[in-house]
Amino acid sequence: MKWTVGTLVKRASEILKERGIKTARLDAELLLAHALGFPDRVKLYTEFEKPLTEEEVENYRKLIVRRAKGEPVAYITGKKEFYGYTFRVEKGVLIPRPETELLVDVVVEYLKGKEGKTVVDVGTGSGCIIITLCKLLGRTHRYIGTDISSIALKVADKNRRIHGCKDVKLVKTDLLKSIEPPVSVVVSNPPYVPLGDRKLEESVKKFEPAVALFGGKDGLEVIRRLIPQSYEKLETGGLIALEVGEGQAEAVKELLELCGFKGIKFHKDISGIDRVVSAVK
Ligand SMILES: C[S@@+](CC[C@H](N)C(=O)[O-])C[C@H]1O[C@@H](n2cnc3c(N)ncnc32)[C@H](O)[C@@H]1O
Repeated sequence: MKWTVGTLVKRASEILKERGIKTARLDAELLLAHALGFPDRVKLYTEFEKPLTEEEVENYRKLIVRRAKGEPVAYITGKKEFYGYTFRVEKGVLIPRPETELLVDVVVEYLKGKEGKTVVDVGTGSGCIIITLCKLLGRTHRYIGTDISSIALKVADKNRRIHGCKDVKLVKTDLLKSIEPPVSVVVSNPPYVPLGDRKLEESVKKFEPAVALFGGKDGLEVIRRLIPQSYEKLETGGLIALEVGEGQAEAVKELLELCGFKGIKFHKDISGIDRVVSAVK
């Protein structure tokens, strides 16, 4: 059988759908665009009738097999969009999530009209938060990303180069341990999934790094350490902005209050979940 772009995408999306993958058509398109070296999946539609070589079909088949086994598209293509920028990702590094873009908005709002501030992204992973802030706000501030994972820091380093943000400093440390005060902003999407969480998707559990996901028994173990460390290192009036899991905002508010933080706010994501908690010292 002679496959074309159109017939192959149709067949691959049927296969992925049979495996229970909800985004079957989108994934089939993203993977074919990747296999053919197209800049985006829109190009598939202008090449719909294009006949494919046996080699192209075989390469694509291998990608579909990986996706059918649950591997996330971003690990197969090696990239993920975040805030309109493309970030490199690989196994061992969390795939940036759209809801995390809210953290960027909260920090940008706080920094409006300010200059010369020090912004620290704790648990930077791919670097998506701190590099996006650097892209949006430019050189008026100092940017630091910390992580405990060497793979994460290697990927963040690649991303800072790709995005021309070599000024973003990357530090291997436990949370804020080796960061010199005063810090103006602590922003973090920390690991906050409770161990044994039944709501966590199988493919996330199977493919994404445990160190990026799990925050101990109740999900709050990392946050519980990060809040007092942040209070210690932040300047007076400095901001803390934390991404939290569904149903964790109230508990995080209590932890912040206990430490002396003021002006605590909840910020909802597009699903109406209190996703970011912010406060000032
Ligand atoms: C949920 S991921 C967030 C990654 C990235 N900031 C994002 O939003 O896509 C949490 C990150 O925290 C890092 N991490 C976990 N424990 C840490 C610790 N004690 N100190 C520093 N980083 C830590 C993980 O390696 C991971 O990269």
